[in-house]
Amino acid sequence: MHCTKRITADMLWVGADDRRLAVFEGVYGVPDGVSYNSYLINDEKTILFDTVDKAVAHNFFDNVAYGLNGRKLDYLVISHMEPDHAATIEDIALRYPEATIVCNAKIKTMLARFFPTDLSGRLHIVKEGDTLSTGRHNFTFVMAPMVHWPEVMMTYDLTDKILFSADAFGSFGALNGRIFADECDFMHEYLDEARRYYTNIVGKYGAQVQSVLKKAAGLQIDYVCPLHSFVWRKGFGDFLAKYLQWSSYTPEENGVLIAYASVYGHTENAANILAAKLSDRGVKVRMYDTSVTPSSYIVSDAFKYSHLVLAATTYNAGVFITMEQLIHDLVSHNLQGRKVALIENGSWAPVSGKLMRGMLSELKGTEFIGDAVTVNSALAEGQLAELDALADAIAADITASTRA
Ligand code: FEO
Repeated sequence: MHCTKRITADMLWVGADDRRLAVFEGVYGVPDGVSYNSYLINDEKTILFDTVDKAVAHNFFDNVAYGLNGRKLDYLVISHMEPDHAATIEDIALRYPEATIVCNAKIKTMLARFFPTDLSGRLHIVKEGDTLSTGRHNFTFVMAPMVHWPEVMMTYDLTDKILFSADAFGSFGALNGRIFADECDFMHEYLDEARRYYTNIVGKYGAQVQSVLKKAAGLQIDYVCPLHSFVWRKGFGDFLAKYLQWSSYTPEENGVLIAYASVYGHTENAANILAAKLSDRGVKVRMYDTSVTPSSYIVSDAFKYSHLVLAATTYNAGVFITMEQLIHDLVSHNLQGRKVALIENGSWAPVSGKLMRGMLSELKGTEFIGDAVTVNSALAEGQLAELDALADAIAADITASTRA
């Protein structure tokens, strides 16, 4: 049975929620599910924007059939070829053989690689600024390369001022019966998941996001329709402001993210003592055990906070596994401009501090503050002064940043 949501007088959401997926893209846990959005406009011609993941294909086919109400599908617009949206393109093309597929040249190449069915004779290739009319609606196409794949494009409806924004402005989290962001308290209920989605999926490509945001700044936008999560029709400015921060790697808050990797608890103990000392100095602290919390959550908060403290034991003459993974993720996601302090541990040859410093130095604008603390097996009584000095250095830097 169909389950659709009305967005405007002639546009329906025909996507679906998925709450059974454990890990999105095989790596990002989605405890609150995820939505795959597709939009259908019934104009003089009918036009469908994107398809959905295979997991919810049957719900989607029911929804499209209901939305068309016996009409044929005239156009399918493809914004992005990643299979969470593109997996059912071939099925839709076969179900609606009269539909013209609107896409760009890069999408054309990917279509041929993903699907055995030859769709080349049904393509209408568009480029930046091209237009398409379905009757009352006039659309134009905005290329958004590397947000976050090279073929990505957005569509702008000049008639109803709708931006079909592809993955941009999406979030993890199922819609749960709602469709508009103003039907929930998005900035409290969903912002953390939206940040985790942005930073982990798109975070590497801040410059490309900034570029497309500049293009969109000249448009009057009454609705933003992303491929995941809610449609925006009011209050979009606060969320847009977050995108401007995230894509420029600007911290949202002056505060410290402490992430530690501890085998028997001694590195954790040093991290806990530092956290207490920072708290005593009025510094906001967020802490994670890298062996417990998946790195997508820690990466997300590394984008949020201005300062990072990384504490890790030495392991196999390297950095402990889960911290090495976290730093690899931070580097992969191109985090920039963070202040970093380090704590290392090693019972006979501590090297994790030096190695972490080397890995983090790859990040543009990283500034190391305070003297790194070396723990030899367990923190010695005389080392509390070292943690006091580190806490003083971090607190002073945060105070200076807050005043700046
Ligand atoms: Fe939601 Fe890049 O796919």
